[in-house]
Amino acid sequence: MIETAVYDSKPYDREYLARAASEERIAWRFHEFRLSAETAHAASGAQAVCVFVNDQADRACLEALSALDVKLIALRCAGHNNVDLVAARDFGLDVVRVPAYSPHAVAEHTVGLLLTLNRKIHRAYNRVRELNFSLSGLVGFDIRGKTVGIIGTGKIGRVAAQIFRGFETNVIAHDPFPTPKWATERNIHYTDFDTLLAESDILSLHLPLMPDTLHLLNSQTLARTKPGVFIVNTSRGKLIDTTALIAALKSGHIGGVALDVYEEEEGIFFQDLSGQVLLDDELSHLLVFPNVLITAHQAFLTQEALSEIARVTTANILTLETRQPFLEGTTL
Ligand code: NAI
Repeated sequence: MIETAVYDSKPYDREYLARAASEERIAWRFHEFRLSAETAHAASGAQAVCVFVNDQADRACLEALSALDVKLIALRCAGHNNVDLVAARDFGLDVVRVPAYSPHAVAEHTVGLLLTLNRKIHRAYNRVRELNFSLSGLVGFDIRGKTVGIIGTGKIGRVAAQIFRGFETNVIAHDPFPTPKWATERNIHYTDFDTLLAESDILSLHLPLMPDTLHLLNSQTLARTKPGVFIVNTSRGKLIDTTALIAALKSGHIGGVALDVYEEEEGIFFQDLSGQVLLDDELSHLLVFPNVLITAHQAFLTQEALSEIARVTTANILTLETRQPFLEGTTL
């Protein structure tokens, strides 16, 4: 039996992880708080810890886990920027992850956000519940015939592009590592970044956050976008300079913004802060624009994605039983 301390766990994590492994093989210890050097002690007696995007496995934390004889850090996500991999190696801790779960989940949420924002479905829903059946202020545009610019044509960007082609849009794309065969087959055209900015009516971000993509959309690049552009970001908050975004919204240059991620989401997203004072002034500002729609990093949240995350995570943890090789691509 492998004792596993699960940090930052939510009801859906408990449901899907408990379903994926029998109680005889993995004893789950679910904690609602996040992993940090201060909370590492809660893993006492565990061989594995299971973490998510906002847990902080820095050197001090990993040293504490190693002293508790923890052997494995199992990320139940793809990104690993919150784990100090060098320190993990120094302390003999294996780090495993779920490299891909459902690109469709994120791509479909992207399109859902755009449709909601453009046709103002979120506003209409609230109006109708108040018995306000007026249509004033709810005018949207046909997506058909518009130019959609996909930045990053990896797993998620390709699915998003294909869905957008279904709307009979003109899809253009930018990626330093293009997939030309895929694009040709779907009548999608690669272009340089500046052309994509200038020609897109809708911009959708599907690239990772790295030092050279930090604030990819900033005051200079936003100024080069088409007036009235709609921007959707379901990738990482720090790809957009929030201060510049607010300025471009205030000037009226941007037509609409849909975000599933936010630059300073850590400590805010995934929490129920209703009834509290929101201390983040830029998020407060974004929330009052009528043409901004925000969801709290939920693009991945489908039954299929949660099942896959739970399946790969439990398989990764069960390798401790026999020290079998990890699933291909899951170890770091
Ligand atoms: P991927 O690794 O399959 O594809 C990323 C693509 O971006 C690659 O083709 C890469 O060449 C490209 N790229 C890198 N630098 C670029 C640049 N400067 N300009 C244009 N393209 C560039 O990644 P995947 O799985 O498609 O994920 C995309 C994003 O979605 C990631 O940021 C990931 O963190 C985010 N994500 C968000 C989720 C959510 O719930 N909101 C869930 C899962 C992933």
